[in-house]
Amino acid sequence: MRIGVFCSGGDAPGMNACVRAVVRAGVDSGHEVVGIMRGYEGLLNEDFYLNPKGKPILTPDCVHHWNRMGGAFLRSSRSDRFRTDDGQQVAARLLAKHKIDALVPIGGDGTFTGALALGRYYDGQIVGCPGTIDNDLHGTDYTIGFSTAVNTAVEAIDRIRDTAESHERMFLVEVMGRHSGYIAAFSALASGAEVVAVPETRTDFAKIVHLLKRLKSRGRSSAMIIVAEGDEAGGAVALDAYLKQHDCPFSSRIVILGHLQRGGNPTPEDRWHATMMGAEAVNAINDGATGIMIGTNSDHPCRVPLAEAIDGHRAVPEHLIKMLEQIALD
Ligand code: F6P
Repeated sequence: MRIGVFCSGGDAPGMNACVRAVVRAGVDSGHEVVGIMRGYEGLLNEDFYLNPKGKPILTPDCVHHWNRMGGAFLRSSRSDRFRTDDGQQVAARLLAKHKIDALVPIGGDGTFTGALALGRYYDGQIVGCPGTIDNDLHGTDYTIGFSTAVNTAVEAIDRIRDTAESHERMFLVEVMGRHSGYIAAFSALASGAEVVAVPETRTDFAKIVHLLKRLKSRGRSSAMIIVAEGDEAGGAVALDAYLKQHDCPFSSRIVILGHLQRGGNPTPEDRWHATMMGAEAVNAINDGATGIMIGTNSDHPCRVPLAEAIDGHRAVPEHLIKMLEQIALD
């Protein structure tokens, strides 16, 4: 059997570890594994990873040490061509031409939306692995890259806290999460931020000003607000502008962490999630499964229908936000 593996959408630390696991488990099961470069766009361009012998085959040697490396060695992209029906039909024909019997797309909701569309024309099996720092897919406790992104954000927030305290300022730190507050909520809890603003709950400006005033009256001279980029009230810039207009008791600065959160070597959590999911993707292919995503459920691999995984965005649980409010005051 021939398995094609690729990374698509926003890169996430741990994608390389997942590819490595697919290759090693695939070869262990007697399959040949092909690395498709640059996601769906690379598939349309028949762009394959070439091993040192110039062959389009990923051997176990090729992926030596990939488990600990950040970025995506197979590269990643978002393909406009593939979004069209025509593009999906061409992709299915190319998969047949290259005798690829099963596909392992590693990515997020856009990747799996594409995989479902491709499944209408492709006869092979499709078993995806969740690779996105946003942690916004249903049916899995964690997605590959989330742990590293939170780690990076918390490290940055801790540093910003030092300067916030020295200068007796408030900082608004914007983290990634176009539709999801997971990175914001987990980073805020881990860094001891006073306020978090996420897309899943309405950002109550008046309540934030009230809390900041209470902090000030209790002698606090600095504060930390974590804002998800997709907060429904706008990002950190919009929130800062509102607070400035409404008698915010602190002087403030804004830091937007942006793509910093997508880079860096994966944490051990991301490495083992990625390795477990990649190996389980091969097990699922061996079992004849298709149209599914591999997830983790209480540290065990699980199989989720692709349609279920992308059915809306998985929202950060409200009790986490409440917990943060509960412990915000000294
Ligand atoms: O990987 C997911 C994500 O990080 C989102 O949180 C963010 O909005 C988006 O990717 C931005 O990605 P890009 O700049 O690559 O389009």
